[in-house]
Amino acid sequence: MAQDIREQVRARYALAAVRGAGDAGCCGGGSAGGCGPTDLVIDERFGAGLYGAEDAAAVPAEALAASLGCGNPLMVAELREGERVLDLGSGGGIDVLLSARRVGADGFAYGVDMTDEMLDLARANATRAGASNVEFRKGTIEDLPLDDAAVDVVISNCVVNLSPDKPAVLAEAFRVLVPGGRLGISDVVAEDHLTPEQRAERGSYVGCIARALSRTEYLQGLAAAGFVDAEVAFTHPVADGMHGAIVRARKPGPQEV
Ligand SMILES: C[S@@+](CC[C@H](N)C(=O)[O-])C[C@H]1O[C@@H](n2cnc3c(N)ncnc32)[C@H](O)[C@@H]1O
Repeated sequence: MAQDIREQVRARYALAAVRGAGDAGCCGGGSAGGCGPTDLVIDERFGAGLYGAEDAAAVPAEALAASLGCGNPLMVAELREGERVLDLGSGGGIDVLLSARRVGADGFAYGVDMTDEMLDLARANATRAGASNVEFRKGTIEDLPLDDAAVDVVISNCVVNLSPDKPAVLAEAFRVLVPGGRLGISDVVAEDHLTPEQRAERGSYVGCIARALSRTEYLQGLAAAGFVDAEVAFTHPVADGMHGAIVRARKPGPQEV
């Protein structure tokens, strides 16, 4: 079942990588199924329009055009020089490339994605950007191809909602963070009163709407994975009762365990 869902998502995002984000839809793709001509306009709720002028100018045009996110996780994560960053579901690579600039030559940015076409696009964008402190690895976000305590910060942009196993994603993010490490995510999040059926009425699964967690489910999931100081803040509406949101949390430090 989880494998089938992941395969549906992979096929949709492979198409997006080849056709281009604007043409393909995906996040924001509407109830018709996303990743194809849809009745929903791709606008300031999803994609390139969510980046400020400075960030937009700092990456190759191809990376900006490939953006399929629902926020700018770098605004959430407050990266510092020398840090190691991991982007869950890195797509065309925009957030990895922006992270790499923020952490500088002494830092490093990893992207993990399961879709070969997206990995090809991200690697081509890294070459265009001349970025040497980045690496894109193939894998799923439910079983990350990174060692324990490998990174200082985990970011993600509109991907957790697509996972068929969100507890595994949060547990893996916790595992790869150093003690005291930070999680900073942009995602679609539902208001608590919406049932799973009501969320599914508002958009498709591959369109990043149908299987989004509610605010309370997110907070409970983060706590169950071991995170502390968690917060979920809505930033902009994406559908009735559904929001682009920023999600922050922290892995307890060595003195706290
Ligand atoms: C909505 S796009 C977002 C891409 C990128 N974060 C951005 O902001 O442009 C979702 C990406 O996550 C990847 N993805 C979705 N589910 C995944 C999973 N379970 N494991 C690994 N990658 C996944 C897809 O291949 C796709 O590249």
